[in-house]
Amino acid sequence: MTALQKAEALRARKGGRPIAALTAYDYPTARLLDEAGVDVLLVGDSLGMVVLGFPDTTHVTLDHMLHHIAAVARAKPKALLLGDLPIHSYETPQQALETARKLVAAGAEAVKLEGGIRQAEKVRAITAAGIPVIGHLGMLPQRVLEEGGYRKKGKTPEQIEFIREGALALIDAGVSAIVFESIIPETARLLSESLSVPTIGIGCGDHTCDGEVAVITDLLGSFPWFVPPFAKPEADIAQIIREAIARYLARVSG
Ligand code: KIV
Repeated sequence: MTALQKAEALRARKGGRPIAALTAYDYPTARLLDEAGVDVLLVGDSLGMVVLGFPDTTHVTLDHMLHHIAAVARAKPKALLLGDLPIHSYETPQQALETARKLVAAGAEAVKLEGGIRQAEKVRAITAAGIPVIGHLGMLPQRVLEEGGYRKKGKTPEQIEFIREGALALIDAGVSAIVFESIIPETARLLSESLSVPTIGIGCGDHTCDGEVAVITDLLGSFPWFVPPFAKPEADIAQIIREAIARYLARVSG
């Protein structure tokens, strides 16, 4: 399937089988997730925190993204390979399109950017060039410093309206889906029911959106130093690593 066909298939999941998306930052993880049947592999700028050791995503550069997108692309996934536009790489429609083209040249099949109304013209420029775009509303990690932390969104009528207007602007500009991050469950469900493209939730409660995305290290328990309150680990890889290393140390140096 071409990138556009994959994006169209994703969009057609509205109201159908829920979308299962996960982040992937390297070749072996991408292969494993793809073989398991994950729908979307997101090379998220969360890699800045869970792979590169920065305190937040504002340190991620375009070079970081290109390096990790290329690694994931070498897995030749059947899943849609989605790459984040990093902070400061989409300040104008022209820059957004140039950055999106670089991500595509590295192997991305679609790009994601954060924000609503103020990003609509950038989304339009990218989709007009035939590159699928996924939006990101609610808590926007690239704005964590301005916001002074990670806060729940969609709590007041004004906040709900702000998200709705952003979503409608993104849809009008041609997004294939929208990630909802840390929007309270009632609002996530209400908005998801009224929007024409799939919403993919993280930190929005169970079954409130048309699908879910999780950060792979949260799911696997491989980044034990910070686990978001909404994470639902399915494994404890950190403990498996600790035990394996202890056995290795005992075998090698007694
Ligand atoms: O960078 C990322 O991993 C993301 C998810 C939180 C959706 O954008």
